Amino acid sequence: MAVGIETYRNYIGGDWVDAASGETLVSSSPATGEVLGAVPASGAGDVERAVAAAREAYRGWRLVPAPRRGEVLYRFGQLLAAHKQELAELMTREMGKVLAEAGGDVQEAIDMSFFMGGEGRRLHGQTTPSELPDKACFSVRQPIGVCGIVTPWNFPIAIPSWKITAALVCGNTVVFKPATDTPLLATRFVELLVEAGLPPGVVNLVHGAGGTVGEALVDHPDVPVLSFTGSRVVGTRVAERAASRLKHVHLELGGKNAIVVMDDADLELALEGIVWSAFGTSGQRCTAASRVIVHERVYDELASRLVERVERLRLGDGLDPATDVGPVINRAALEQIHAYTRVGVDEGARLLTGGELATEGELARGCFYRPTVFGDVDPAMRVAREEIFGPTTALIRARDLDDAIRIANGVEYGLSSSIFTGDIDRAFRAIRDLEAGLTYVNAGTTGAEVHLPFGGTKATGNGHREAGQAALDFFSEWKAVYVDYSGRLQRAQIDNQ
Ligand code: UN1
Repeated sequence: MAVGIETYRNYIGGDWVDAASGETLVSSSPATGEVLGAVPASGAGDVERAVAAAREAYRGWRLVPAPRRGEVLYRFGQLLAAHKQELAELMTREMGKVLAEAGGDVQEAIDMSFFMGGEGRRLHGQTTPSELPDKACFSVRQPIGVCGIVTPWNFPIAIPSWKITAALVCGNTVVFKPATDTPLLATRFVELLVEAGLPPGVVNLVHGAGGTVGEALVDHPDVPVLSFTGSRVVGTRVAERAASRLKHVHLELGGKNAIVVMDDADLELALEGIVWSAFGTSGQRCTAASRVIVHERVYDELASRLVERVERLRLGDGLDPATDVGPVINRAALEQIHAYTRVGVDEGARLLTGGELATEGELARGCFYRPTVFGDVDPAMRVAREEIFGPTTALIRARDLDDAIRIANGVEYGLSSSIFTGDIDRAFRAIRDLEAGLTYVNAGTTGAEVHLPFGGTKATGNGHREAGQAALDFFSEWKAVYVDYSGRLQRAQIDNQ
């Protein structure tokens, strides 16, 4: 047990409890190294208790009218709004993103809570005529059961809200395993849900490692639904293990998102979009622009203006309003990002700026990496194909729109995409042809809004979407209902031929 630091707990069946083992994990600030608290290092036994509590609570929650379930989410949104500043500050301390972006993360959860709160009064099904007389047909969404929710650290309030509010409004109950880098934010998230009036057992929080808590959820026979955002390697493993139990699995995995800049683009606007999408959240977004595909006629100008801007970005603690780019999440990430710089250099890409750890002054206490731009990148290079998840972007030349789209599509991922152009025909061709779940025109690759479907094609996921009404399709099951009021046995496909 950690001594002298505040220890937070799991939340199971309406009680805040320690893990059975008494072991803890420490949460610390990536900007300063300050220890922020400790949480239980839970095991399979804790998951077992949480699943049992969620299963028990499901018996009642599924029968609570959906508008009433939505009202809890509406109150949750109001509580998030009331605590926005506090949560944003904790977020900057716990995972490093600058305060304005942390506020945006909380705002995304507020928006999602209000949106899903409203779904409580919609949850529309279909009504349709029967092929037989005196017979009614309609379909309704039904809850499924206990949902295992496994979330990443990069959007530590927003992403849990995408999954949990959708699961709850549909009438499911939840066991929530947050990332080990952001357990304090997950704790506040659940505290506010409880304060919003959620009955005991409807949401349960189990802290701990993916290899223990996450796997126990994946393997548990009483958890029919799993929603996971994280790495492709882990996501694939989740799908494989869950397949033997025919679970419903939603995966949101990596991206290698490209911004296409055409020769008719407003370059100033494109530069702003590139800097924001590539270096916001220190590049640690699934939607980050890690490739910029530039028409050869404007490549040189764009490259030099981009480097100039990137060199002006100020690194620092995200609590300081003068900071543009905060730290990356931890030492292991720092090393991984730097390893990719070496890969790029070895492959023959030109390092235009950055490419090193930033250690001057106060920065030495944290995990800071200089915003990095590679030029003359060949689409076949690893830095042009693999997700780096850090403040690194790769400039690639294209001959024309077809070439740019071919390069953009030439990766395994398909989450976000963007084109800067002044030509409406080019814009619509890109919308049609870019293989991605999101396409932006004259904006960067980030900034998805909560009421539209979010997710990607190809290796970014497994075909499901979260956010918007699309999320309901994952967290509920359709039931088709046939009511025959003819008073006789009517046989579809036979009696009406
Ligand atoms: C993520 O990086 O996993 O569109 C989510 C965006 C944010 C969500 C990103 N609204 O960048």
